[in-house]
Amino acid sequence: MKISLYQNNPVFGGIKDNVDSAVAAVKNGQYELIVFPELFATGYLFENKQEAWALADLPESGYTFESMKKLSHEKQALIVYGFPEKSGDGQIFNSAMAISPDGSFQIYQKTHLFNTEKNIFSPGRTGFSVFDFKGVKIGIMICFDWRFPEAARKLALQGAQIICHPSNLVLPHCPSAMVIRALENGVYTITVDRIGDENRAGQSLHFIGHSRIVAPDGRILGESGESESGQLEAEIDPLLAKNKAVNPLNDLFNDRRPEFY
Ligand code: ACM
Repeated sequence: MKISLYQNNPVFGGIKDNVDSAVAAVKNGQYELIVFPELFATGYLFENKQEAWALADLPESGYTFESMKKLSHEKQALIVYGFPEKSGDGQIFNSAMAISPDGSFQIYQKTHLFNTEKNIFSPGRTGFSVFDFKGVKIGIMICFDWRFPEAARKLALQGAQIICHPSNLVLPHCPSAMVIRALENGVYTITVDRIGDENRAGQSLHFIGHSRIVAPDGRILGESGESESGQLEAEIDPLLAKNKAVNPLNDLFNDRRPEFY
């Protein structure tokens, strides 16, 4: 399975340009799975809820969704990306959309909100679940969810072979932690970060780049730099993530002792 990610450098609020450059970045390759960062089209630091609401989308609406749906159809690929999702009851979620070529989609709403995200977003209601794409089980978590090992574990125990992980990383530890998340669960992880800085809402954030694709045995299959935006690709074999054997006598899942945890 050929996969791709795009580490971007969005201009805050510039949805059309941010989406168009993401589409342009992957237009020449043939991939079955393409992952973009958390909040990749809007930027991250919202001044307040009103600003976030104005940039948020209802599911199945907006320039971002329409462009990603078209991209999915053209590439016959699953597209995963982060976006601010508004709901009919006035809440905003920090969500990830997964669109399939037939236009069907799944949404994951970020469970563990980071820092001042709590002033803007509601904690996700979806929880962690997996879905099937071309016979491969896919799970999604978003950025700070990495700090809670239960997130990746819950997805892996449901059979996830690939965990897509749209991110806007500001802490340095996540790329290393994702090697462990992949290794302890025997899954592929695709962490897709952004680069650059945002100085808004009384804060100054630096995003650390270092998007990373990790194999079930902990090997790093590809990594982006700290300050370049750009596309990264890898060929993966999702069947490897079905085998949880460490050696003939150890199995990552069968050897668990949940009665002691
Ligand atoms: C983060 O969860 N975007 C730091």
